[in-house]
This record gives sequence, structure tokens and C-alpha cells, in this order.
Amino acid sequence: MTQTILLLDDETDNIVLMEETLKRKLPGVSTVGFTSPREALAWCAGQEPDLCLIDYKMPEMSGVEFLMRVRQNPAFHGIPMVMITGMSREDVQQVALVSGATEFLNKPINPVDMAARCQNLLKIRQTLCDRRPQAERLGNDVSQAVHGIALREQEIIIGRLVRFSEARDEETGSHMRRMAFLSQMIAREIGEDREFCDMLLQAAPMHDIGKVGIPDRILLKRGPLDPAEWEVMKTHAIIGYDVLKDSDSVLLRMGAEIARSHHEKFDGTGYPLGLKGESIPVVGRIVAVADVFDALVNERPYKKAWVPGDAFDLLRRESGRHFDPVCVEAMLKHIGEVMDIQTAFSEPSRDPDADLHYRPQREVATR
Ligand SMILES: [Fe+2]
Ligand SMILES: [Fe+2]
Repeated sequence: MTQTILLLDDETDNIVLMEETLKRKLPGVSTVGFTSPREALAWCAGQEPDLCLIDYKMPEMSGVEFLMRVRQNPAFHGIPMVMITGMSREDVQQVALVSGATEFLNKPINPVDMAARCQNLLKIRQTLCDRRPQAERLGNDVSQAVHGIALREQEIIIGRLVRFSEARDEETGSHMRRMAFLSQMIAREIGEDREFCDMLLQAAPMHDIGKVGIPDRILLKRGPLDPAEWEVMKTHAIIGYDVLKDSDSVLLRMGAEIARSHHEKFDGTGYPLGLKGESIPVVGRIVAVADVFDALVNERPYKKAWVPGDAFDLLRRESGRHFDPVCVEAMLKHIGEVMDIQTAFSEPSRDPDADLHYRPQREVATR
């Protein structure tokens, strides 16, 4: 491909001289000449030369200023720039060098010297251009690999955190998986993007991480909690938030938001902040539906399993009260998928005599 040299000098005679010399000495190289730095900048906004020869002293804008402006465009970082100075003063050359000049030429220009330097710089430029696709590919591979490692590390950390909280809570890994997939499904249905849905799948199991701060006598109590015990139990939302909130990881920060908001209720009667409607973070509104539904249709130490139809009825009844109606509707639209998730991650009964399809006599508060 033809290489192009940009020539910038406020004196037309100098431009003509350089053009003629280059045409003679470097046939096959094209030139584009400007006497106005502003016109040259305008041209550079739409295309890249392979080399620039810039006069140091121009009335409209100095060569150094032109150089600094043009170097602001990342595409111009690799383009060689030759500064043409009227005198070989070291201080001038120093300023030009700091501003991004590659080489210097002194006036009056020696045509042989100029052509030889241009030829060398164009060769270097050609080599850099030839290698650019490989360099870009390598750069992409490296950033993808780094991103992959970061994500895997996050998944490992979250997996450990969740297993740690499961171990204390008697909560099962199957519940975490089911409620995470249900949350992801709801997010997808309400129009959240792919990245958000995938992150939610990872972050939803962190909802009860704050239970690590609840004393065993309350956390593991069989049967209902008394009012004072309930107050302690409720602090798990804030404890979980505090544990995760200051992380650099977006995923853990999403986990913090879920931990704090998964017990808020759409009508403002939930905890810990008593937020109402859409002031409850969307992750909290989604996880509330997925978590409660899954807790209802599966057995817990303090309750038996509900038949799915009853749990769906409860979602309908509590739509607009406990739950965001949009999230409830999203769940009800995919009853088949909900049941597939239940089957895929089902677990054996803790109590061999328990009737897994127990019909509730009264509503049961999930913890
Ligand atoms: Fe909870
Ligand atoms: Fe849960």
C-alpha cells in the first residue's frame, strides 16, 4: 500500500521543495502538503499519514502545539513525527522531543539527508503496521484471559462463602441453586440484559450470608421464634450487606445489595429499611420471589413442603403486598421452567416420614 507523508510548513516554497525532493528520491510515496496547521489537523481527523514533517515555527500554531494535539489521538501514537527547526538549538529540540517528536531536521533542508531519514522512518512504520493485527490479537487474548481468571476467582470465593453459610444454617446447596436459577429466570423475563442475569445467578446465593452472624440457638431453633429472637434474626440482612459492601468486585457488591434487600416488601412493611415499591433494588425484588417460593415448596427444619399450586397461589395473593407484581408475573409465566428447576435440583427429605406434599393450614413465615 502507498505510504503518505504529511508536510506542514507555513511557507509554500518549503512545501514545494520537500514535495519535489521526496517525489524524486522516494517514488511510490505520496505527499500531502499544508501551510495551515488547522487545515492539517482537520485532515488528520479523517485519515492517518505514515510520517509527518512539521515546521517548528509557524504563526498560526507552533509545530510543538500541532504535535501535541495530533498525538492526543491514539491512532497517531505510532506515527513518526519529524520536527524541522531553523536552528540546531538544544532547548528547542528538548521541548519538541518531550512533546512527541521522533527526529529533527535543520533548515535549510539537505534533500539527501531528508530523503534518507524519511525512508528509514517509513520502513519502521511499515513494520509496525504489519505487526499491528498480531499485537491487537495478543492484547485481546491477554485481556480475555485476565477477565477469565478474575471471574473464576470470584466464583470460587463466592462458592466458599455460600458453603460456609450453608454449613451453619442447615440451608442446602440445592436451595441456593434453585433460587439462583429462579432469580435468573425472572430477571430474563423482566428484560434485564444477559450480563445482569448471569451476575444475578452468581450473586443470589449470597442472600443469607449474614446468617453467619446469628447465634446458633436462634438460627438452628426448631419451631417458631419469639419476637425478641425474630429481631435478632432480622439483623442477618444488614450483617450480610456489611460483609460484602466494600468489595472491588461488582459481583460481591450485587451480593451485598441482595443481602440487604431480599426481605423488603413491595408495600413497605419489610425489613431492614422498610423500603417501598421500586425504591427496593430490583435484585432484592427478584430474589424475594425466588427465595420465598423455593423455601415454601421445599421442606425446612421448621416446616414441611407446600404443594407448588399453593405456593403459586400465595405469590398471586401477595403480589403488590409482599412481592413486586412484575416479578410475580414473570415467575407465573414460566411455571414449566420453575418445575424443571425444582426437579433438576431436588433433594431427599430430611424426615423420611414427612409428606412432601403437605397442604399448609396457615401461612408460614420464611426466614
Ligand atoms: Fe434471609
Ligand atoms: Fe434462602
